[in-house]
Amino acid sequence: AKGGRILVLPGDHIGPEVVTEALKVLDIVEQATGAKFEREFDLCGGCALDKHKDSVTEEVLKKSTEVDAVFFGSAGGPEWGTVQPNPESGLLRIRKRMQIFANLRPCKFASKTMVERSPIKREVIEGVDFMLIRENCGGAYYGNKVEEADYACDPWEYSRPEIERVARVAGALALQHDPPLPVWSVDKANVLANSRVWRRIVTEIFEKEFPNVKLQHQLADSLAMLFITKPTAFNGVIVTDNTFGDILSDESGGLTGSLGLLPSASLAGAPGTDLGRNSVGGVIGLYEPVHGSAPDISGKGLANPVAQVLSLAMMLRYSFNMHHEADSIEEAVAKVLDSKADGGLEIRTGDLGGKATTKDMSEAIQAEVKQLLKV
Ligand code: NAD
Ligand code: IPM
Ligand code: MN
Repeated sequence: AKGGRILVLPGDHIGPEVVTEALKVLDIVEQATGAKFEREFDLCGGCALDKHKDSVTEEVLKKSTEVDAVFFGSAGGPEWGTVQPNPESGLLRIRKRMQIFANLRPCKFASKTMVERSPIKREVIEGVDFMLIRENCGGAYYGNKVEEADYACDPWEYSRPEIERVARVAGALALQHDPPLPVWSVDKANVLANSRVWRRIVTEIFEKEFPNVKLQHQLADSLAMLFITKPTAFNGVIVTDNTFGDILSDESGGLTGSLGLLPSASLAGAPGTDLGRNSVGGVIGLYEPVHGSAPDISGKGLANPVAQVLSLAMMLRYSFNMHHEADSIEEAVAKVLDSKADGGLEIRTGDLGGKATTKDMSEAIQAEVKQLLKV
């Protein structure tokens, strides 16, 4: 039987609310397939600070490298602030320890009717479909930071192997389509030394290893603008640095109408290659929504569970090679978003302009998954 070991880190605020719902979908997948997912729950973020005075313990860091996948909610909140170690530092340390250097953040509409939720005109945004790959273990996020009362420095460093490995993930994903998808490498080579080296090394890798993939370069600032004016021009694969990728992936939430719909997968290798294999033949990965802990709506049952549920689908796809189950979960989400409940009201949470609760939406998704997987 399939399955494997997962470490569940729900985190703070809406993290536990949406993780609980997503795991009910995993229960259904277990029933449907006979696969068994051994789940270990632990703390990362503000919850870990409260209990252990640190945002993540060495024990959890170690465990994150031993399991087949980590299923993460979200970390942070105003009650903990930004003084180090803050909740978010726990997540950053896990990413680094797991060496999950490729953060895949797909941008597309989760269903047909979601195009109406976008603030962008239909004729401009309809059909948007790109995979943004954010380098996840380097750049300004890491290195020896200096933080003094009147001076600070975040060294923005990349070396050849770090650039090569993330470029290879972009190439491998492009090649999973026939014809291969176009790839854009996004940088600020007009200003940053880092970006010049990034651009040169990405170009070399594509010339040598992916000669049939079309590679183009795009400056990050102008891409932020073009995402609004010509988003579909970037349908394909985008590969970029940690900081640029963080910012541009939140922009995906703006484009598609809500952060509450966007999942992500952080991988230690390229799907379909031998890099970063876990014990069951998938890729070692951490799966989390693009959104944060949404303290403004937490504790009220208002959070949209879709981003967390779609992150579960990505986990099944990349870490456990369960493509049919992943497809079915995505289809179930689309059906719910496009449907109406008995009273004629759409089954949508507040971020999508609806009145449904987290539970309403989750139960509707579970019912569809059951039907599609014949449970
Ligand atoms: P956020 O993503 O938490 O929220 C931004 C806005 O989107 C809020 O109005 C929120 O209510 C809404 N929103 C987000 N997810 C939603 C959902 N599932 N359903 C409905 N509405 C949703 O960003 P923020 O407010 O800037 O950050 C809050 C905290 O989360 C900060 O401490 C931040 O550092 C942290 N954060 C954590 C992660 C993570 O753990 N992966 C990611 C981003 C931010
Ligand atoms: C994200 C978040 C994180 C990041 C924070 C919470 C550390 O914004 O996953 O996009 O900046 O990477
Ligand atoms: Mn972010």
